[in-house]
Amino acid sequence: MTSGLQALEYRGYDSCGYAFLLGNTIKVEKRVGKGKIRELFSGIPERTDSQACIISHTRWATHGKICMDNAHPHMDCKNEIAVVHNGIIENYAHLRKILEQKGHRFISETDTEVVPHLIEEHEKHMRFHKAVMKSLNELEGSFAILVLRKDGPGIIGARKGSPLLVGFYEDNFLISSHINPIMEYTDRVMFFEDGEMFIVSNNGIRVFNLASGGEVEKNSVRIKSGFAKSDTGGFESYMQKEIFEQPEVLNRTFESFSAEIDRYDREIDFLPGRIIIVGCGSSWHAGLIGKYIMEDFLRLPVDVEYASEFRYRNPVLLPDDLVVAISQSGETADTIGAVKAVQGYARVLSICNVLNSSIVRESDYVFYTQAGPEIGVASTKAFTSQLATLYFLNLLIGLKKGVIAKSSLKKRIEEFKELSGKILEILNTMTHIEKISASLQDRQNALFLGRGIHFPVALEGALKMKEVSYIHAEGYPAAEMKHGPIALIDEHMPVVFVSGAGRFSAKVLNNMAEVKLRGGYIITVTDDSVSEMKKVSDEIIVVPHIDNEYLGPILTVVPLQMLAFFTAIKRGCDVDKPRNLAKSVTVE
Ligand code: M6R
Repeated sequence: MTSGLQALEYRGYDSCGYAFLLGNTIKVEKRVGKGKIRELFSGIPERTDSQACIISHTRWATHGKICMDNAHPHMDCKNEIAVVHNGIIENYAHLRKILEQKGHRFISETDTEVVPHLIEEHEKHMRFHKAVMKSLNELEGSFAILVLRKDGPGIIGARKGSPLLVGFYEDNFLISSHINPIMEYTDRVMFFEDGEMFIVSNNGIRVFNLASGGEVEKNSVRIKSGFAKSDTGGFESYMQKEIFEQPEVLNRTFESFSAEIDRYDREIDFLPGRIIIVGCGSSWHAGLIGKYIMEDFLRLPVDVEYASEFRYRNPVLLPDDLVVAISQSGETADTIGAVKAVQGYARVLSICNVLNSSIVRESDYVFYTQAGPEIGVASTKAFTSQLATLYFLNLLIGLKKGVIAKSSLKKRIEEFKELSGKILEILNTMTHIEKISASLQDRQNALFLGRGIHFPVALEGALKMKEVSYIHAEGYPAAEMKHGPIALIDEHMPVVFVSGAGRFSAKVLNNMAEVKLRGGYIITVTDDSVSEMKKVSDEIIVVPHIDNEYLGPILTVVPLQMLAFFTAIKRGCDVDKPRNLAKSVTVE
């Protein structure tokens, strides 16, 4: 009964629950906690009969504290209608007030609970599925929703802004917000557009358009099921496994790009005048590195935008803009919002790790990253594969712009092949990095500083550190330190410098001297001026040098991932499921 939830537990939750039909009643089980789903529901037998109708949910609290009452499923007054919901109902306070005036009793603080009550209210005047439809049309905000009714037609589902799909396995329907849990069973899947509702029952599946109420013809599709079921493969955590998978991921990225380059070249049949990169978190950092590469190589203007700001900012768009949306999951609500905001004004290319995800389906072009399923909440292999993909996109546009000739493209692609061996060398310094993490484990704060293309790497290093170890870490351009953060530096402040070989060496050394003078504890990650940097650093991690400086960040970020990982482990943190974080942020 909970195996579907188990497959999604890596995405983060603070409570969970399910509802199913038992005789003439709906039975609900809920648990509060972040423990393993299997343990939370231990002792409850699995239902395997083919008539079972089950809806289940993991909750990541947004409206209302973490407690049993606020966990899903939510019920109507008569306990006949159960609802699970992802997303946010923005007009819930208004709806709740009206429903309470009509006598409905609420037991939770959630936005979701208005839904079963609203359906219950409308059902007084119409058939059940019409009542569901009417209710969903009254909701503002985003939802992927499932509704189960005692004596009902089966399960009703609908989506608007949050992912939902149905897989077909023998006579069963497997409904999920993500493709991972169902790929083990089937490769036949139906995806839905926003504003569609479906009913699955013993008679099959029927799809409706929520706005018109009309029935919609829809086909399932076969999806490529190349990715094996995930496990930690002998590592103690997914995060560690995923850090160690990076050499293999980069080889796959290389092979995939080499095989697909002609198709990409044909498909992207225009030369952009400007590139706007949108994303969140680590994907945004990858975009920032893309800007350093593309502006330098292509001499095209490149803007990098937080998707959450861009989508509401009314940005000026030009007809030859190319918007590049970067997302591991393809389901990040703000990035989807940004993509939708530019549709009809600019072309969208997504760089995404999940097949047929919402962002992919909203884009004109897609470059899939070849990371495979990333289960750890902290992005590691997805981040480096985004960098690799941006590098290849840069080459492809360079080809169109005439910055690079087809004859020299091969050499540029070949340079990429050096990376996986070099990452292996870094991974082999694991014991050294683990030792350095001991000097961080009891700290409260840390600064991460870098210049040029390594400044976004510093941002990413700081994000990794704070999300998995809970040490407050900030990333800055190294020179910006003088404009404020320098006030924080004393013997209690570790400062991690990220430096790649190139024109900034002397300047980075100056910044290091400034920190040293004030007693700061310096950890340096570099392939550069090693001997001088050694003199001022308390600890140094040397990464192999790569001549192509655009590829440097793929190397310098790896020790930062390892540093965050080992520090977190030493502090007893759960690296795969850091507190308060979800793997895929489907609310804005
Ligand atoms: O799935 P996405 O790439 O769109 O996710 C964006 C961010 O939520 C994500 O990168 C987040 O910052 C990670 N936890 C970072 O490790």
